[in-house]
Amino acid sequence: MTTTLVLGASGTVGGEVARLLADAGHTVRRATSRATGPGQVHLDLLTQAGLDRAMEGAHAAFLMAPPGHTNQDELLGPVIERAVAHGVQKVVLMTAMGADADPSAPMRRAELHLEGSGLAWNVIRPNWFMQNFHTYWLHGIREHNAIQLPTGSARGSFIDARDIAASAAALLQRSDTEGQAFDLTGGEALDHTEVAAILSEATGRTIRYEDVTPDAMRANLLGAGLPTAYAEFMLVILHYFSLGYSERITDAVQSITGQAPRRMASYAQEYRAAFG
Ligand SMILES: NC(=O)c1ccc[n+]([C@@H]2O[C@H](COP(=O)([O-])OP(=O)(O)OC[C@H]3O[C@@H](n4cnc5c(N)ncnc54)[C@H](OP(=O)(O)O)[C@@H]3O)[C@@H](O)[C@H]2O)c1
Repeated sequence: MTTTLVLGASGTVGGEVARLLADAGHTVRRATSRATGPGQVHLDLLTQAGLDRAMEGAHAAFLMAPPGHTNQDELLGPVIERAVAHGVQKVVLMTAMGADADPSAPMRRAELHLEGSGLAWNVIRPNWFMQNFHTYWLHGIREHNAIQLPTGSARGSFIDARDIAASAAALLQRSDTEGQAFDLTGGEALDHTEVAAILSEATGRTIRYEDVTPDAMRANLLGAGLPTAYAEFMLVILHYFSLGYSERITDAVQSITGQAPRRMASYAQEYRAAFG
């Protein structure tokens, strides 16, 4: 039986990757920095504590860097090295759509490290998650009935995190796609006014889109406790969104999983209780 190490296994994507692999009969080693229970393994990417124990005997691994950090290459480099040393056969790394635009960007450096490691690999680069609306952007929706972002009328092909996880789980179990990177998107590109209308329909509340300035956004992010460097990183990628870089639609989810990506209206229905 295959043993697969899943990083971020209590998180939005990793939790679903772990569930899908376990359902498919794999032994799953769920790695997080606060792991405690059975089937879980303690791994702190900031200190690399627990890394060898997490890797030992693993056949495959799902890698990602936790949000809040801008040094993804430093966090993931040792993980890739130890995967090589422990003879891991397949690695799927999640970064983000656009990561390959700049070879010196930390996320791209992590991808390049994996690509040059000799491991069998796939990289998945998801677009903005639908799940951000009931996590990162929930405060504005709850307190002001508004999605507050500096993105104007630009569109995004938002992806449901469950489709990212399904793609990762499928790639971990396949050997015919090795050495390929995939930009993962939803099947429709929506602006935030359209998203607000879909959330309004699903929740029965009136939620609108409010185009805020980057300075107001910075204040919101810092107010929510984000480290300054990560807040600045978020402002940069939100600026790219406002320029239209997030609107591209790919067929990667369909081609990897055989299923069409979930639509924003389905996400909104299924998560409507989270907006209460
Ligand atoms: N949100 C988006 O729109 C978007 C778009 C594209 C790409 N991404 C990428 O997606 C990733 C985030 O995925 P997600 O939303 O599924 O994450 P998430 O829900 O925020 O979960 C983060 C996971 O990382 C673990 N973690 C936190 N600190 C850790 C540490 N020091 N060592 C080891 N594990 C640690 C957490 O568990 P513990 O707290 O127990 O450690 C948790 O399991 C990021 O790499 C981000 O760049 C996000």
